[in-house]
Amino acid sequence: MASQTASAPGKVILLGEHAVVYGKPALAIAIDLRFRCKIAPSDSVRINGLEIDRAKHPYTSHILSEHWKGGIEIETSSAIPSGSGLGSSAALCASLNAAMMAYRGESDEETCARRSFDAELKAQGSASPVDTSASVHGHGIAVNLEGGTPIWDISHGKRRWSISHIDIPRMTLVIGHTGISAPTGPLVAKVRRYYEHSNFAKDMVNEIGSLTEDAAKALSSGDRVGLGSMMTENHKLLSILGVSSRELDKLVQAALPYSFGAKLTGAGGGGSMVALTDRPDKVCEAIERHGGRPYIVSSGQPGAMVEK
Ligand code: MEV
Repeated sequence: MASQTASAPGKVILLGEHAVVYGKPALAIAIDLRFRCKIAPSDSVRINGLEIDRAKHPYTSHILSEHWKGGIEIETSSAIPSGSGLGSSAALCASLNAAMMAYRGESDEETCARRSFDAELKAQGSASPVDTSASVHGHGIAVNLEGGTPIWDISHGKRRWSISHIDIPRMTLVIGHTGISAPTGPLVAKVRRYYEHSNFAKDMVNEIGSLTEDAAKALSSGDRVGLGSMMTENHKLLSILGVSSRELDKLVQAALPYSFGAKLTGAGGGGSMVALTDRPDKVCEAIERHGGRPYIVSSGQPGAMVEK
């Protein structure tokens, strides 16, 4: 076979980012923005026509060094802005792994999720499997929470994450992208320094964990008011951990009058926020007025898949 193409979705984290790195629970939904990778064997290793610069492509380099022998031509295209908090690097890992596995006639979600997490971990130094599992599986996932259908467990060191499929009830989410690119690695490292040196930061992480457990119950019973207020509370705790920004706070404040709740989503620093609302047009207008790029989430998206 001459080439193989696969795509994988971005994600939005409803609650639990950063705390999930320390084994706390999280809830994530795949979104209809996708990353595409086309691969073909070649004499050299090239990405989008250029010889690979391993420093510029840490995720791809890790995946190739573990799972590919010889040359390869990789072409990528993505609708997920990089550093947007919407899982672009996880979707890169998931789509590249899916394409490479399909090229060899393999298809196994769990293996794809493990390989994708491994690449994120090595490239970022510290990570949880929430982004990569959401991208590989699609739809909705819960991490370290009861009540869904278990799909796989992933461990690293003394941390263990149990991933479940969850059905997402009908609800409207609006993303607001600040337009500021904020890579995940440095933000995870910043929280780690705080967490390792402060009991207060550990308390914040524990509190995010308890909030996410309550939010999972609100999600499954369709309680949008309860879920929204817990999202807003989660934003406050993430701000205390130091991962919000002026731009993110501005978009959250702009969305709140028309929302059940709103918070930053993903690593923070810049990137994006998400609002739970029944007035999406009003939220989109408010986000635009405050300099953000709005986007209405359509949930129920498939995970990593081969494209013809
Ligand atoms: C980034 O989307 C989510 C973080 O919790 C990092 C991770 O879980 O790997 C900040």
